[in-house]
Amino acid sequence: MLTSERLAALADPDTGDVSAAIYTDEEVYRRELDAIFRTSWLFLGHESQLRKAGDFFTSYMAEDSVVVTRNRTGGISAFLNVCRHRGMKICRAELGNARAFQCTYHGWSYGLEGDLKAVPNQEAYGPDFALEDWAAIPVPRVESYKGMIFATWNTDAVDLIDYLGESAYYLDGVIDRLPGGSEVFGGIHKWVIDCNWKMPAEQFASDMYHAATSHVSAIAVNLPEDFDPLKHGLDQRDGVQYWSDEGHGGGYFLADKPNPAIWLHPRAKEWLISTYEEAEARLGAHRAAHVSGHNTIFPNFSWLAGTNTIRVWHPRGAGKIEVWAWTIVDSGAPADVKNAFRKGSLRAFGPSGLLEQDDGENWVEIQKTMQGSVSRDTTLCYRMALDAPIRRSEHSGAHEGPLFSDTAARNFYRRWSALMGSGLA
Ligand code: FES
Ligand SMILES: [Fe+2]
Repeated sequence: MLTSERLAALADPDTGDVSAAIYTDEEVYRRELDAIFRTSWLFLGHESQLRKAGDFFTSYMAEDSVVVTRNRTGGISAFLNVCRHRGMKICRAELGNARAFQCTYHGWSYGLEGDLKAVPNQEAYGPDFALEDWAAIPVPRVESYKGMIFATWNTDAVDLIDYLGESAYYLDGVIDRLPGGSEVFGGIHKWVIDCNWKMPAEQFASDMYHAATSHVSAIAVNLPEDFDPLKHGLDQRDGVQYWSDEGHGGGYFLADKPNPAIWLHPRAKEWLISTYEEAEARLGAHRAAHVSGHNTIFPNFSWLAGTNTIRVWHPRGAGKIEVWAWTIVDSGAPADVKNAFRKGSLRAFGPSGLLEQDDGENWVEIQKTMQGSVSRDTTLCYRMALDAPIRRSEHSGAHEGPLFSDTAARNFYRRWSALMGSGLA
């Protein structure tokens, strides 16, 4: 049974000892669905997917399917995609424009805000049957930050802007570079990886360390032919890791001028450089130049600055995730630039992307390895930079330290443990 004692033994953010059981234990997973995913803000999609009244898409909050709509008053509504009659999905399409949603089982019909509008043969339910009593379950809090739609089941949650906290500073570096903001472009790529959701979430929060090993061949094929590590002085440690009390984190390389990732499409690199001065005027030099970095908003929303992939790691059991990945672009960019970002992010971090495959290979192998009776209780080492000095970023106010560090991961598990442990005996 999961007790506070067992939980404390699973992950100790002070020592950096983490049990591999957090990746495989079914009881841990079931508690995560309630303790983590029902209390936190979760990313649903982008407002540019809902341009006019009646536009909708279906998304997930962990394993719960939800319908997200642009309603008649121009606001955004979200409701549980579960018919109140027998539990069929109310909407089985991924996206579209609709006036109402009719359940395909017995034909109950719901409006854009989840209100129950009509029931076939309603008189058979008797005179006391009221449509208002059987509306779809609403998602009580839906808020947007610069076009990014988040939602939570937690009516007591802090406002989204406060939840994002210092991470909003880094997110703005991607979504608010230029006047007009940003939009998602080219659909959503969705694929399954046989690994626990925390592996990618934690890696994107904290782990630049793996890149030089895991991605060495993918990076090598992208390097210019005359590349000389001594001459070019490529030091992968030259950067900063940040984290915030809400469990978010990220890391980026230091730069004093824009230095787009080598795997970007040439037209996207050109765009980042040619719009640099405008972005600098808006964001300040520190943020405008740091165009490469990994980031996670706790629990399961991540992005890569510069590559401009944003993604959610939807949990599908303890050992499986469904990745949903969008490419995000400056709204004011020409069409060929938007397409260049789409191609570049797909080439590097799409389902068969050069770098994405390296990461997935690691996560799948870990998940398989941890099925062993002895393996699954292995204590894993999260001790890097345990004693490194910590400071507050003069730019964002986040905590920050060395780039090669497990501190943001320990912080991720500090938040995880706090939520998982609340109310445990
Ligand atoms: S399950 Fe939806 S109408 Fe019966
Ligand atoms: Fe990676």
